Amino acid sequence: LIVPVIIAGGSGTRLWPLSRSLYPKQFLSLEGDSTMLQSTLQRLSGLGCQSPITICNEEHRFIVSEQLRQVGDIGSVMLEPVGRNTAPAVALAALAALEQENLQDDDPLLLVLAADHVIEDEDAFHCAVEAAIPMAEKGALVTFGIMPNSGHTGYGYIQRGQRCDNGFEVNRFVEKPDSQTAQIYVDSGEYYWNSGMFLFRASRYLEELRDHRGDIAESCEKALRNSITDMDFIRVDGEAFNRCPEDSIDYAVMEKTKHAVVVPLDAGWNDIGSWSALWEVSDKCENGNAVVGDSILHDTRNCHVHGGERLIATVGLEDIVIVDTKDAVLVAHKDKVQDVKSVVSKLKAGN
Ligand code: GDD
Ligand code: MG
Repeated sequence: LIVPVIIAGGSGTRLWPLSRSLYPKQFLSLEGDSTMLQSTLQRLSGLGCQSPITICNEEHRFIVSEQLRQVGDIGSVMLEPVGRNTAPAVALAALAALEQENLQDDDPLLLVLAADHVIEDEDAFHCAVEAAIPMAEKGALVTFGIMPNSGHTGYGYIQRGQRCDNGFEVNRFVEKPDSQTAQIYVDSGEYYWNSGMFLFRASRYLEELRDHRGDIAESCEKALRNSITDMDFIRVDGEAFNRCPEDSIDYAVMEKTKHAVVVPLDAGWNDIGSWSALWEVSDKCENGNAVVGDSILHDTRNCHVHGGERLIATVGLEDIVIVDTKDAVLVAHKDKVQDVKSVVSKLKAGN
């Protein structure tokens, strides 16, 4: 039986001003009624999983526990005092899973899930996970590969090798290449995008992390050893975790391991990483505009207009994103929305 590990500690800055540090995007309902975190859990139904382990920043503990309770099993919620990116987060969850007593398997399969993805075809997602299970049971680190349709630089790229079991060996994993390299990969037809979801045994991830980033593994072991269980929460030790180096699972482990495999996933997957990605998955009118809230759009095409506070009127616009909130307005070109995070950096720096 699989233990879902939901990593929900990101800051989602590219969806500013809707996504804020106190309320990042994984806790918002951007598509449909459920929040992105809730959808992550809901789409597991039917897969026969055990209780989830969710790992997030401690300042979001009440949002997370409330949202999980609304959709069912709250499971364990692990709290990080600071974000150290995903390699440590997954390590903490793996260590906790190995310690849990009520599990049927003393070395469970962990299904690592980002909390901010949209997957349209749940059956296809379930099939891919089921195809991955036998390989993960044998010790592989399974990734789920998405057929790329552009040289997007925000993703990991996975080069497919020989067929093995229900997937392919991974020849190469390259996290966030530059755009020229990404385009070469896409044109070659040999690469998938990394979906950011993984399936592996808890012990196998920790072995690989110890081999490649022993410093991270050691800090996480200390942080969990001195953790405090407080109601539904596991608070990892601040002193040890503060000293943990920062790195993502992709750089720390997936680029380095020789035991990765990839299972193709064709399930309408989308990382809602930016306003243009949200526009892509949103319902649109015949002019290609996606609209939330009151608006009058005249001679306006392929725009994303997110309001709700007051009427928004546009005239003669194309490919523009407008996001209106109580205290901030964003107006951006749809091709440039990756740079919204630099607005947030400037805000943080205080100018
Ligand atoms: N607990 C915890 N702590 N979670 C975190 C932290 C952290 O410090 N940092 C990020 N997360 C969570 C985010 O909330 C998100 O759900 C997930 O981990 C992935 O983090 P992102 O910051 O969104 O990663 P990314 O999109 O840049 O890249 C990853 O996902 C891509 C696909 O969406 C990589 O795995 C890429 O290779 C992949 O292509
Ligand atoms: Mg992401």
